[in-house]
Amino acid sequence: MARRTSDSLSPDAPSSGEAGVGVLDPAGQGPRHVAIIMDGNGRWATMRGRPRLFGHHAGARRVREIVEACPDLGVKYLTIFAFSTENWRRTQVEVAGLMSLFRRYITGEARQLRDEGVRVRFIGDRVRLDDKLVALMDELELMTAGNDRVHLTIALNYGGRDEVARATKRLAQDVALGRLDPADVDEETLPKYLDTYVLPDPDLVIRTSGEARISNFLLWQSAYAEYEFVDTLWPDFSRAEFAKLLHGYGARDRRFGGVKL
Ligand code: FPP
Repeated sequence: MARRTSDSLSPDAPSSGEAGVGVLDPAGQGPRHVAIIMDGNGRWATMRGRPRLFGHHAGARRVREIVEACPDLGVKYLTIFAFSTENWRRTQVEVAGLMSLFRRYITGEARQLRDEGVRVRFIGDRVRLDDKLVALMDELELMTAGNDRVHLTIALNYGGRDEVARATKRLAQDVALGRLDPADVDEETLPKYLDTYVLPDPDLVIRTSGEARISNFLLWQSAYAEYEFVDTLWPDFSRAEFAKLLHGYGARDRRFGGVKL
């Protein structure tokens, strides 16, 4: 997502209705938007007697496999949690290693992502990220802006509460400037200020590694998502397991608070 001016809603922001709000397609099969909390890299490496970063590198290879699987499996939007606003609390070595991995991932994968029709966006607060990384993120977004086969969103320095706070700040600025009437603030208006303003809500959120929590990921957007918590550690999460979860989703009965008639 191109860096937005902090003081106003981007003029090309569609209403959440235009972007779709994560409702199943009429055929009612697979999820259109899948979000993944890729957990377990550290444990995967430790189990092998290797440093945690070894697990993150293995995790990055999994990202490629899962992104590649999306078109065949009918997933149009994939959003992955790469680094949270809380992950800065890790050791300096791990944080620096992850930042370096993100830079390597972007430079190493950019061409393939572009050629395979993947549109890449980043969500999260870029202010704390180093300039070199932000420049690479901007470049990859620009390079893939014309693509529409799969929409890959990478959450980097992302936290759901932080996102809502930043959105509220921008919204308040628009009110202060007379661009927005407080009476018009509702469930349609607020998401236009979120980082995800062009994306549909996730239909399915997957978390690997056996932890059953959402860790500040897409708090607003996942209000009606289905959840799958699987024991597999992220570096072992395969295309086959992904396909199985998507298949299981098709059997679910989503009512969005209503009743089935
Ligand atoms: C959580 O596992 C994982 C992360 C904080 C980093 C996720 C990053 C990747 C999968 C690497 C590549 C991503 C991209 C986009 C190139 P953990 O370290 O908390 O695992 P643990 O719970 O076993 O310690």
